[in-house]
Order: sequence, then structure tokens, then C-alpha cells
Amino acid sequence: MITDELIAKIQEKADIVQIISSYINVIKKGNSYVAICPFHADHDPSLHISKSKQIYKCFVCGSGGNVFTFVSEYEHISFMDAVRKVAEMIGFTDPLLNKPTRVINEGTKKILDVLKASNEIYQYLLKSNDGVKAKKYLESRNIPLEKQEYFGLGFSSSNPELPIKLLRNKGFDIEEISNAGILARQNDSFIDRFNNRLIFPIYNEFNDVVGFSGRKIEDNDEAKYVNSPNTIVFNKSKVIYNYQNAKNEAKREQRVYVTEGFMDVFALYEAGIRCAVALMGTAFTQYHAKLLKKLNVEIVLCLDGDNAGQKAMIKAGEVLEKEGIDYKVVNYKECTLDPDEILQKYGKDILFKFLNRIIDKNDFIYNFLKKQYDTTTLNGRKMFAEALIPHISNTTNVLEKEMLIDKVCKETGIDKKVYQSLISNNIVDTHIDFNTLYVKGNQRRTIKNLELLQSEVAYFMLTNNEAIDVYKEQGAYFFDKIYDYLANYIIDLYETKGEFSTSELITSLSQSNSDYSKKVITLVTDLLETTRFNPEYNKEYMLEYLDRMKKQIIKKNRDNQFYNSIDGKTEKEKALICQKYFDEGKEQN
Ligand code: UTP
Ligand code: MN
Repeated sequence: MITDELIAKIQEKADIVQIISSYINVIKKGNSYVAICPFHADHDPSLHISKSKQIYKCFVCGSGGNVFTFVSEYEHISFMDAVRKVAEMIGFTDPLLNKPTRVINEGTKKILDVLKASNEIYQYLLKSNDGVKAKKYLESRNIPLEKQEYFGLGFSSSNPELPIKLLRNKGFDIEEISNAGILARQNDSFIDRFNNRLIFPIYNEFNDVVGFSGRKIEDNDEAKYVNSPNTIVFNKSKVIYNYQNAKNEAKREQRVYVTEGFMDVFALYEAGIRCAVALMGTAFTQYHAKLLKKLNVEIVLCLDGDNAGQKAMIKAGEVLEKEGIDYKVVNYKECTLDPDEILQKYGKDILFKFLNRIIDKNDFIYNFLKKQYDTTTLNGRKMFAEALIPHISNTTNVLEKEMLIDKVCKETGIDKKVYQSLISNNIVDTHIDFNTLYVKGNQRRTIKNLELLQSEVAYFMLTNNEAIDVYKEQGAYFFDKIYDYLANYIIDLYETKGEFSTSELITSLSQSNSDYSKKVITLVTDLLETTRFNPEYNKEYMLEYLDRMKKQIIKKNRDNQFYNSIDGKTEKEKALICQKYFDEGKEQN
């Protein structure tokens, strides 16, 4: 066990500039240090390293953290491993740093054993007489023996009790079989939940079978697929089908294709592409993104061509974007089929060509959104331009951003300056008072914008202990969950230690290793390193900001309530509610 004290000791001895210098070329520039950022395609040095704060921050891609997060991100290793690594680099030894040998606990081990044995039984049953109809089905779908074996396909007997009996013969008891997610009950007997289905084993990245999916082979009205329930080792939103194979293939091809279903993975295989995985029909999650990121290759989304598939692709892109992962997309153009349908209809050569029709994410999003609006009308063009704002705001690459803006303005006829100003504030709601946002020079701005207020208050709390006291005294709170979380975290650290340092905060956050903590770290480094026009902490400002923030939150909650209350109402009812809303607003101002 590595304790907090130990981490603090190592942190104290390790110098972030030195450690980062051992990975990349760090240049001294005046009092600060800069480097080409290794976390995005950087050309000018945008990574800034602060010796005094012992943190780093990239001004382009936003990644940031302390010495341990750098090593962890750079080496793709866990936070604790990064702590070990840094200790090693500075010659710091302590018996507590020795790595515990990886232990899979007994219960988990049993489940994996049951699953492995089930897989063997299913594969055996497919080859047995019992499996003849499943074999026929495979034939009808053009899945030859070689492919069946590559993917480890099986069959769960048409006798629902048989697989369970075979498992019990191997010495597993009912509870163990049940824990593995194989069992179902029928009246008084125990049966196999995948009964009479074609079996697709699902593996984790270490090549253990963790679950199954069973496809019906008869044309009846049962569900098309039955999946393993969530167990200790299986969770559909955390596993990706065929990852265990694609892992190695992707390294060779420097690319991984993400599809929707088993049949699509099979289709790509037929076209000679083995570096394909499938989401098994679920929404794309951060866990999926993380798994793919580990491959360190180009990610190509290739979900179905229908509208649902294309929408899911936009959603998946957003998740990847949030994780800071770049991706590309297979260009479906007007095609609404899925890869398997393309294969069956046009053959593998056409499918292969199709799969190499890859476009950049920006082109994909642009084209997708453009199709959603009628850009021959004024209103359609306005809505299209607005819809693109969040995406363009999030685009970190300066050239990409510029080209997108240019393209939208040419398409819609909107003035570039106007559009740019909307983007730099990610404003879709044009009611925000611009005068309060843009005051040039070094003078103090009257900030009304809630996002800015929150960041000012949080900045104060990060840099001055008194601000934490004031925040507590005032019983203040933030509107956005992430700020509230940060504030509580700061207060907690401050109260337990009697003092507060940002580096400790980052260390503490890094250990939880959740995506949310990562986001909070990004926020913290953003707050600390982004150029600010406002003065440093001062109690008067703090109180003023807290007061404004509170008012803004009350207003925002009122607005939200208003929007909810007119939802689904008739025009007449809406008019009455609006009247009341504006009258109340007048009283308050
Ligand atoms: P599809 O309906 O596209 O399945 O669902 P498919 O793989 O193309 O199968 P065929 O060609 O119809 O036989 C995509 C994925 O969603 C999951 C499966 O993992 C499937 O591969 N799914 C689908 C389910 O889990 N349950 C279902 O009932 C349907
Ligand atoms: Mn499909």
C-alpha cells in the first residue's frame, strides 16, 4: 500500500521540470519552462511547466496535472505505477513501493473458471449432433468453419438443462454457475439462459471469457440476442466485443474500426480487416473510449449507416472528444446500410473500398449537421450555424477551428467576426450581454456571466486560504456540479490538514482514477494557468462575486423552471405563464 504521506514525500523530492525533461525536450523561457505538448499534435511549444506550482498545463489541448499525472498519461500507466516510476527515477526507495503481486480473488477466479468451462461446452455442442441446426444457420449467413473457430462460436443445446448438467459434472455448484450469469430458472429446474441459441463468447482484454451473447437461430418472436447479465466480471458498457483479437491486429494496421454488432465485425473480417470491434448495441461510454485509447492507434467509427447509427456516431464522437481522443469516421454518404448488409449485397471488395473511405471528424460533424437543417432558408442556416458552435468551441487545433469557421460562414453568409465572437464564448443563447464580457485591457471587469463568476470564485479558493473561509462563512454554492465538487474537495482537504495546496489536491484527485476526477484536474489546471484579466484574491471581490453568483443561480433556476413549466402547454396557457414570468422578473430587477 502506498500511503498519502509517501506520495507527498516523493512529490517533495521530485522536480517536475526534471522529470518531464527526461521524457521530452523542455526549453527554459525566461522564468518558465515550455515544451512541445506530447498529448496532442503540437507544433509550437504549448505545454507550460510551472516549477513553483509543480504543475504542467497545455494551453492548446487542455491536459494538465502534477508530476505523477504526467508520467501516468505519458506512459499510459496507472497513477500508482507512475508514483513508483517517479520514485525510481529520483532514486527514492521504500519497501511500501513494492508492487503487490496481482491477485484475482477466489470468487472472481471461480466465475472465470465457470465461464471458461461453459465456453468449451458450447463449442463442443456446436460440433455435436445437437448443433446441426446452428451449423445450418451459420451456413445461411455465410460464416464458414474458419471464422466460427476464430471467433470461438458455440451452441447452447436445444435441451435447456444439458449445459448446466455438464457444468455440474465438472464440479461447479449451482451458486457458482449462477454467479457467472449462465443460469435461468424454469419452474423447479435450472436451465441455461442461452438455451437453443448460437453463442458468441465475449472476452476481456486479458483474453478471459467474461460473458456470452446468444442469437436466436429460428425465426420466432423471441429477442434476437440474449446477453449475460451484469456480473462481477461482465458489464456491457465496459467491454468491447473482439477487443482481445483487435488489440494485436490494430497495432499492425495502426487503426481500429468500431462497429455496432457482431455481424459487422464478421463482415469486416471477411473483407480482410481484423482490427474491428463492436459495441454490442449499447451506447458508447467513457470506458469504451478508455479501452480504445490504450491501443494508441487511429480510431475509425463505423456504426450503421441509418439515421440512428449516424446519430450514435455523433454521440460516440462527443464521448471521445471529452476524453481528448481524436477519431475518424467511415464516410457513409447516402448509404444507409450496415457493413454486413454492404458485404451481403455488394461483396467484400466493395466493402473493403467502402471501409477505406475515411473522413476527418470535422467533416463528418459538419456534413451530418448540415443534413439536419434546410440551409436554403435563412432560419435553417442560422440553426445550422448555431448547432456547430459547441463543436467548434471545443476544437483545440487552431487551424481546424479556423477552417470550420470559414466554411460555416461561406455556407451561411454570416459575418466571420460575429460568428467568431459567439464561438469564443460558446454562446448559443444570444441574450447574454456582450458589454459585460468584453472590456479590454487590465481593468477589472463587471462579470455577470455565471460561468466566469464560478471560475473566479474557484480560482480564489485555489489560491488563497481565506477565500475558502469566506466561501464557508457565506454558505455559498456553485451552480455547476463540477465546481461544487471541487469546492467540497478543497474544503475537505483544508479542514483535515489545516492548510491547502493545489499539488496535494491534484495528487488526491488522481488517486481516485475516475473520469470525473480527471475532469476536475483539468478544471483546476485550467483555472490556475489560463491568463486572467482580473485581480488576485481580495475579500471585497470575493464577497461581490459570491453575491452575483447567488443571484445568477437563482435566476437560472427560475429560467429552468419556466422552460419546464411551458413544456407541453397550449399557446394560451403559455401566454399566461410568460406574462407571470416577466412580471416577476421586473419586480426582482
Ligand atoms: P443488430 O441488430 O445490428 O445485430 O444489433 P447484428 O449484429 O447486425 O445481427 P444480425 O445481422 O441482425 O443477426 C447490433 C448489436 O446489438 C446487440 C448485439 O450485440 C448486436 O450485435 N443486440 C441487438 C442485443 O444485445 N440485443 C438485441 O436484441 C439486438
Ligand atoms: Mn446490424
